[in-house]
Amino acid sequence: MKIGIIGLGYVGLVTSAVLADQGHLVVGVDVDSKRVEGLSCGRNPIYEPGLDELLAKNKDRLQFTTDYAKLSDVDVAFISVSTPTVNGEIYLEYVMSASKSLAKVLRKDSLIVMKSTVLPGTSRKVREITGREVVSNPEFLKEGSAIKDSINPDRVVIGSYTKEAGDVVESIWKFTGAPIVRTTPEEAEMIKYAANSFLAMKVSFINEIANLCERIPNCDVNKIAEGIGLDKRISPHFLKAGLGWGGSCFPKDTLAISTFARSLGTPLRTVDASIQVNNERPKRAVTLLKEIMGQLKGRKVCVLGVAFKADTDDTRESVALKVIDILKEEGAQVVAYDPKAKANVTMVSMEQCIDESEGVIIATEWNHFKGIEDKLRGKYVVDGRRLLDPSKMDLTKFRAIGLGTPSIQ
Ligand code: NAD
Ligand code: UGA
Repeated sequence: MKIGIIGLGYVGLVTSAVLADQGHLVVGVDVDSKRVEGLSCGRNPIYEPGLDELLAKNKDRLQFTTDYAKLSDVDVAFISVSTPTVNGEIYLEYVMSASKSLAKVLRKDSLIVMKSTVLPGTSRKVREITGREVVSNPEFLKEGSAIKDSINPDRVVIGSYTKEAGDVVESIWKFTGAPIVRTTPEEAEMIKYAANSFLAMKVSFINEIANLCERIPNCDVNKIAEGIGLDKRISPHFLKAGLGWGGSCFPKDTLAISTFARSLGTPLRTVDASIQVNNERPKRAVTLLKEIMGQLKGRKVCVLGVAFKADTDDTRESVALKVIDILKEEGAQVVAYDPKAKANVTMVSMEQCIDESEGVIIATEWNHFKGIEDKLRGKYVVDGRRLLDPSKMDLTKFRAIGLGTPSIQ
């Protein structure tokens, strides 16, 4: 098939590379000319494990352009532009603008596939604006394992108005071998928000249990997670207590669905509570540091990790950045280190970051920070992602999320 991909960000680029690898001819369109120029010269603008290699391997089947006219002969056009939340509400201008551009160039029988995360009813609007058949096919990939998730998803959700349109999208993803869930477009759109909200709620739940464990001697939240996670009805995933969820999706999607639900008179109280719990997480790291270190004014603190999670250079809504802001408000001098991401703070090597500072907060779950207990000797340390072995730490200068104090024998 000849496939168009509109929006060459994390989702669009991964989808382009994966579909080209399946033998499709892919035309990727983005309004960002620098991004397109770079991609056309083989420069990948994002860090995602395996993506450079997959783009290079399939370069003969991939074309990148700012020109929508190049989509005039595609069979299917995927929309994967950003859908941010602005003032608590979903901002649909990028989707609408892309839809209007597509309406001008696509063949009448071309299919539009909505991959961007949009509220129930949006695909219907795009169908009206474009006069083309639209299928909702939400994306469930995670940054850091995006290619693996895209090739081997837990399920593929396809929401269509007509069986024929749904069948075309099903044929594209058949190679994954994943269970296919056929729905209405509105159901598919809702499934995406319900999934992200549920995962965010699981993390907020275990983070509240972590707060409680910190007040109980001899009680470690990781053991609680292990003990409940083996119950198949609960599952072990998304029970890692820490400094909370960030990223380009959970924060914006939970807010968007919450506002949408309230506008319909049916507030999502569990989602609202999860957001509230999450908003308190960055402060928790600083509170724990002050418990062991005292006032932070004028003192140097190192933040390890600025990406919103491990294995990505993405810092959108990163909890680490919020921790840095709170440290600065407390008057601390902040330095940071991250293996991939950049931030508006003094960034130095990991060794320098630790050596220069009195206090250290681990804010991102990078594997690089495992096994560094020796390097941290003499420092005040808060393990915000549970990467360190408490038995190797000086417990008078150490706090870890969800770790109750050891019992006195
Ligand atoms: P992104 O911000 O990384 O990329 C979006 C791209 O769209 C940008 O390059 C931008 O220049 C381009 N764009 C904006 N308006 C355009 C237009 N009118 N025409 C052409 N290009 C345009 O976004 P992303 O993280 O890839 O997310 C895209 C969508 O997928 C969002 O709705 C998001 O919620 C959803 N999603 C993201 C992830 C993820 O892990 N990042 C996972 C699942 C779903
Ligand atoms: C998330 C979902 O997992 C994807 O299924 C979804 O497609 C995507 O959002 C999206 O809609 O964009 P992503 O944001 O890339 O993916 O990363 P996650 O692995 O879900 O992590 C999100 C945040 O939760 C991170 O800040 C991470 O540190 C935190 N987290 C995750 C925890 O604190 N504990 C956990 O157990 C899991």
